Amino acid sequence: MNITIQPEAIASLRGFELPERLGFGAVMAPVMFCARYEDGCWSSGELIPYGPLHLDPAAKVLHYAQTCFEGLKAYRYGERLALFRPERNAARMKHSAERLCMPPVPERLFMEGVHTVTAHCANLTPANSGESLYLRPFLIGTQPDLSVTASRAYDFYIIASPSEAYHPGNMRLWVEREDSRAAVGGTGDSKVGGNYAASLQSIARLKQRGYDQSLWLNPGNRHTVDELSGMNFFAVMEGALHTPALNGSILEGVTRDSLLTLAREMGLDVYERDIDIDDLLALVDSGTCSEAFACGTAAIVSPISELGDGDRRHKLREAPGPVAEKLRQALLGIQEGRSEDRHGWIQLVEPAKY
Ligand code: COI
Repeated sequence: MNITIQPEAIASLRGFELPERLGFGAVMAPVMFCARYEDGCWSSGELIPYGPLHLDPAAKVLHYAQTCFEGLKAYRYGERLALFRPERNAARMKHSAERLCMPPVPERLFMEGVHTVTAHCANLTPANSGESLYLRPFLIGTQPDLSVTASRAYDFYIIASPSEAYHPGNMRLWVEREDSRAAVGGTGDSKVGGNYAASLQSIARLKQRGYDQSLWLNPGNRHTVDELSGMNFFAVMEGALHTPALNGSILEGVTRDSLLTLAREMGLDVYERDIDIDDLLALVDSGTCSEAFACGTAAIVSPISELGDGDRRHKLREAPGPVAEKLRQALLGIQEGRSEDRHGWIQLVEPAKY
């Protein structure tokens, strides 16, 4: 496919300067990638200036939430830029799109898009360890029609945000025993906007109590741990690493999968299993659970310092634990080019020519 690079996109990159404080997802790159699906065919992609979308008020996405997204990062890698396992994101986006009856973005178009945006944003990719260019591909149903049927037209965009990690660590989680983020047979293992919308009321409630994130329980049994919406959950018990087994309502994190591989290589015992919340809280209280942390593309590895459950506070260590720290450094070492890429996880990006 031939990608069009609009001259206005190149012009918008000139003079763009990174602010001193980036935060996460707050600063937007001045360009974005766009492709359209109509009459059963995908257009070729275009790099255009970042800006508001033109959407009909009756577009399906605005009423029936036909939208899915991805999150992946580009890192400074010596003189070059590198993407980390982007093919996993392309495959997961296909899964999410199919779940919402949307046409999957062809892998080639997805890859061309992330490479094009990254190449053109080289000068605005931050260089400090843990910082990166966060890429956010998303797909929306645009057909204006209020009948509850799948859209016949779609837009695929990729926006980019030079970012720090999502959470600085020391996270305080609230065990959510009332709401669910996803339903049995629902969309929990797909990266769709509705899952995140369903988590917002819980997050607003727990913030008032001084917590940072909800720890979601399985919607079927209401007593095993699923995830944090936006991050997967890990606990260290007697030196072994435990994480909830994929069960249809947990998003299959690329970072989760990468950490499991790295942990096994480090010789850790690794268990993907159902983790009962009451057992976990008791093991935290007894000290058998010595560390817990969350992980995700945006969050990297983010230590958890407390689990709140009703009136009870179950305290973990405040400083990052040794296992979380070792895994974080091993992962960042590969992503930022300090360690050998033994698994072929890195894709180097060709510099933009203009
Ligand atoms: C990511 O890690 O890429 C995510 O999608 C998390 C995001 C919802 C903040």
